[in-house]
Amino acid sequence: MTKPLQDNIKTPPGPTEAYDINTNDDSFALLKQLYPQYGDIIRVKSKTRRSDSYLINNPEYIKHILLKNYQNYKKGVGFERVKMLLGNGIIVSDGEFWRKQRRMIQPAFSKSMIAAQVAMVQKCNLQQMDRWAALLGSQDSTEIDISYEASDLALDIVLRLLFSDDVDTLLEQAGENPFAFLTEDPTRDMKVVLKYRSLMSLLLELIRARRTTTKKYNDFVSVFVDARDKETGDAMTDKELLDEVMTMIVAGHETSAITLTWVWYFIAKYGDVDKAVQDELIRSGISGAPGFNDLEKLPYIKQVTEEALRMYPPVWLFTRKAIEDDHVGDYFIPAGADIFLSPYYLHRNTDYWDDVDEFRPQRFTAEEEKQRHKFCYLPFSAGPRRCIGDFFATAEMQIHIGLMAQEFRFELLDDKIPELETSINMRAKHPIMLKISKR
Ligand code: HEM
Repeated sequence: MTKPLQDNIKTPPGPTEAYDINTNDDSFALLKQLYPQYGDIIRVKSKTRRSDSYLINNPEYIKHILLKNYQNYKKGVGFERVKMLLGNGIIVSDGEFWRKQRRMIQPAFSKSMIAAQVAMVQKCNLQQMDRWAALLGSQDSTEIDISYEASDLALDIVLRLLFSDDVDTLLEQAGENPFAFLTEDPTRDMKVVLKYRSLMSLLLELIRARRTTTKKYNDFVSVFVDARDKETGDAMTDKELLDEVMTMIVAGHETSAITLTWVWYFIAKYGDVDKAVQDELIRSGISGAPGFNDLEKLPYIKQVTEEALRMYPPVWLFTRKAIEDDHVGDYFIPAGADIFLSPYYLHRNTDYWDDVDEFRPQRFTAEEEKQRHKFCYLPFSAGPRRCIGDFFATAEMQIHIGLMAQEFRFELLDDKIPELETSINMRAKHPIMLKISKR
């Protein structure tokens, strides 16, 4: 553990007024005001919490917290709310339990497993492509709610990633899509929590059936059921497995959906980006849904998704809690401190990024990336708690954009910049509507 410096140790600057920082619009506005005023490490006294908040917007300090001394930082403020939905799934758990679960879950995200899931992703996209073609019918163009469409697709994919074709059985039994409220319900309040809980019995039934079946499945639930703890040889209990399944749905659905929505928004907005996507598709020679080996032929589409994640990272603010006293640079971080890291503000820190409000996918060419501190860009976080689904999410987006951009053209309906809603995830406040036409 790093010991605090005795001499020249400093308390970070900050406002005299006290605030409770949260994932909400008020804190979003407050951070915007504080960073230019106080710099890249700020102490904010707390109104109601026992500990002060430390806002950190410097890549070297962030590297210390997420990587070098990560063991001193557990999940922090805000995760209690998530716990209501996810029990003790790996996005909220800590310490030895987290390590054990992460080890058991990791094989589901291996390259070979993801490669095996590509056929499913292609199929979901081809079905959506047919739906969009049907929506257009014989019209030259029509309006499409791209927020809804992206959410619908991302949900379908994450459920099939977990349960493969059992999803169809689940839908038959439930009579309708029991997860539809995740797409349709714009409020995330107690009602959602209750609906979520009612899903648990359905999911438990599926999980229990998997423990005894002789049928071969190639999906995440089968990996989770077969996983054994390295030390004890124990399998996950039903409750542990259920928590991890819920975690995957919540962590993998909205984040991917929001990103896909922004990607289409930017492609629709900038003709040169649309043209560069088309040029890349022609160069690649891909026809139809891109396969696993095609992904490397679509570097520009990947850069477009990376730049969308820079501009609007869905996980715009996340937290840690210091276990023991520590220091970053010359600044003292006391035990119990609430740490706040904001990918949104980090990605717009003008010390590290130029023209921060400009959408420029070229920032993510290998040459430009080499010149930047790695911890300037954190849409998927970093270190041992980095997003486990980052590779899959990127592949999912490349396949979707790669296919749909061959078939359809998108344009903005107006020049209004979408308003943001900064809750647990940051997203557009209102659905993004685009004009869709056949290419
Ligand atoms: C564009 C899409 C995505 C974004 C922007 C994203 C972002 C993130 C971020 C920032 C974290 C770290 C949070 C923290 O440390 O407090 C995280 C963790 C996680 N994500 Fe993602 N994620 C995405 C897609 C996915 C997908 C598709 C899955 C699964 C199917 C997934 C599963 C997880 C899990 C399980 C964790 C917790 C990892 C751990 O703590 O060990 N994510 N994600």
